[in-house]
Amino acid sequence: MKYLTKINAKKLNNKTCLLRVDFNTNLLRNSFRINAVLPTIKFLISKKAKIVILSHRGRPINEKNKKLSLCPVAKIISKKLRTQVRFFSDFNFKKIKEKINLDKKSRIFLLENLRFLPGEKNNESKLAKRLASLGDIYINDAFAVCHRKNASTVAITKYIESYAGLLLEKEIDGLSKVVKAPKKPLVVILGGSKIINKINIINNLNKKTFRFLLGSSIFNKLTNPEIKKLQKNKKIILPIDFIKNNGMYFDIGPKTIECYKKIINKANTIIWNGPIGMIEKKKYSTGSKQLASAIIRAKAFKIIGGGETVNFILSENLQKRMSFLSTGGGAMLDFLAGKKLPGIIALW
Ligand code: 3PG
Repeated sequence: MKYLTKINAKKLNNKTCLLRVDFNTNLLRNSFRINAVLPTIKFLISKKAKIVILSHRGRPINEKNKKLSLCPVAKIISKKLRTQVRFFSDFNFKKIKEKINLDKKSRIFLLENLRFLPGEKNNESKLAKRLASLGDIYINDAFAVCHRKNASTVAITKYIESYAGLLLEKEIDGLSKVVKAPKKPLVVILGGSKIINKINIINNLNKKTFRFLLGSSIFNKLTNPEIKKLQKNKKIILPIDFIKNNGMYFDIGPKTIECYKKIINKANTIIWNGPIGMIEKKKYSTGSKQLASAIIRAKAFKIIGGGETVNFILSENLQKRMSFLSTGGGAMLDFLAGKKLPGIIALW
């Protein structure tokens, strides 16, 4: 795999670099994923390259879902880097290319949400070629979406010289330590609103894991028979009491917190992905806060992943007490389960 850190700087001089990032984030609450790619952007600027940033955001059904536009991100990056960022709101690739070439003022450009294009999710070659035509070099710095086979993460690498960015390299290095030799017992904490997607991940990590501790939202998503099925796996520990409102489960209760703390205390490796309750509301953040303090006290190697969870750790100012913060949610869990991520494989 070619790493951007090893590139001959001359190769970047006056070149247009397509930088795939993951800006799939709640822009008001969470800028962790944006901050994480700033070193790569600064690196490219310092080498006098032009940068065309590519990203997805959310899961739009079609282009009409303007709530998921990346337009606000242009302003955010522009403010953070104190430089102009030009946003393209349509996908007229020929015109975009002309504008990039002619623009003497901007060095950074941002394309609209790639998931507005159906070809993105389908890993379509036609779209990949059109994207590749915009630049000279492609850099994947979107670890968080490397578990998806998309046109801008996989197919594109067939049509343009491709590199792994600074963030991707950091994620691979940091997480590989745990994949190679996870210190047992391993405790995996899974929560957040996408908890349903994480059930598959339990199967992948099942052999390596001592206990899975699940957040309260699983009870909002599953029916009783489905919960009973989960209970058959003795490694899965479900909450036993809750903070509820109108029949909805918003946080774990005090008995669950005590039970989870004891298990966390036994761990030598802890992976945490997804808040344990609905932390957007302070009154439902007790479970996550209590588990975070148990995690920092444990003598384990501690990996925190996923935008919401990392942001929570940052807001509690606990980042220095954790061993590794990953931008990946599902991607991190797949990587840690030893799966080969398509976005990484494509760079080989
Ligand atoms: C994430 O937030 O985990 C990535 O951006 C991937 O998003 P997805 O689960 O919608 O593909």
